[in-house]
Amino acid sequence: MVTTDRLLRKTVRAKISSIAAYVPPRVLTNADLERMVDTSDEWIMQRVGIRERHIVDPGVATSDLAKEASLLAIQKAGLKPDDIDFILVATTTPDTMFPSTACVLQAKIGAHHAWGYDLVAACSGFTYALTAASQLVAAGGSRRALVVGADVMSSIIDYTDRTTCVLFGDGAGAVVVEQSDDDGIGILDFENYIDGNGGPALCMPAGGSRQPASRETVDQRLHYVKQDGQTVFKFAVRNMEEVCRRILERNNLTANDIDILVPHQASGRIILAAAEKLGLPRDKVVINIDRFGNTTAGTIPLALNDAVADGRLTRGKLALLASVGAGFTVGGVLLRWA
Ligand code: ACO
Repeated sequence: MVTTDRLLRKTVRAKISSIAAYVPPRVLTNADLERMVDTSDEWIMQRVGIRERHIVDPGVATSDLAKEASLLAIQKAGLKPDDIDFILVATTTPDTMFPSTACVLQAKIGAHHAWGYDLVAACSGFTYALTAASQLVAAGGSRRALVVGADVMSSIIDYTDRTTCVLFGDGAGAVVVEQSDDDGIGILDFENYIDGNGGPALCMPAGGSRQPASRETVDQRLHYVKQDGQTVFKFAVRNMEEVCRRILERNNLTANDIDILVPHQASGRIILAAAEKLGLPRDKVVINIDRFGNTTAGTIPLALNDAVADGRLTRGKLALLASVGAGFTVGGVLLRWA
């Protein structure tokens, strides 16, 4: 009887069983940007901490980056594309309005048994997608899910606008999510919320049903990222801290218990300000924005991948992922690395 009770109450968790990332080979440095707009390496380094970012060549789309990261993640998990039964692609720059990039990716990698869809949550795309997929996997609705965060931000950046063009880059990361056989390992908790009133502070005004593409929208450059940088900055610092605090408190943890913070990479200043308020030392915070810029849904898997590669994230380590993005969207995931 006791045994049955225990079995019934056993928590089934999902875990990340492999990770991979991909950025296109072409590099856009601050020196390159100095030749395009009135900016300087000093300004960019001081305000956001970006040295260079990777940019696709013409004709390369989000699914192309996603494909490279996905095939590697699947291989690292010891699987074949046909083993994947669910694909969730977080992106703000899908190949086309429709079909979804998940459909394009499914065909490109030959995941013949997978269904899936795209998820739009801007810079919180990966944390939201990981939340959704891990719940589906834990509940038994998927055995092996592929979660991708991928963006070709260069396709919606105005390279004549110095206030935005220095910030973003292109890149993709992918993870395979499966059930964990150890209930102490895997996705432990999540905390997601949105503040829809923040929409106008960071958006691409045209190209959707509100303002379909027209000669006027193109002339007015409305198919590019527009942002009120200071509003975004203040919201990001406050809520990066807030979402981490909520997760820590709910799990009776303090910042000391966290081995590594893997934040969305929008700005070194945002990340360090939030970390300082949380009392997390710099060496527990993954920052790779200097090499990649803000790749939107790609930043967290790119940062996770770096942390695994440099040995900072190993089995059993407690990691906190945190994101703030357009919407506004805010996300946090607590996990013990598998
Ligand atoms: N190079 C040189 N000067 C610049 C540049 C540039 N690339 N961009 C703006 N400036 C100038 C401005 O024109 C302004 O000049 P002025 O005083 O003569 O008018 C001056 O620098 C200061 O501009 P601010 O906008 O006040 O600069 P701020 O200190 O706020 O920094 C920044 C701007 C870096 C965008 C900051 O607000 C920020 O980091 N915001 C967060 C934005 C963000 O991260 N967005 C990404 C997506 S959202 C997310 O991921 C959380």
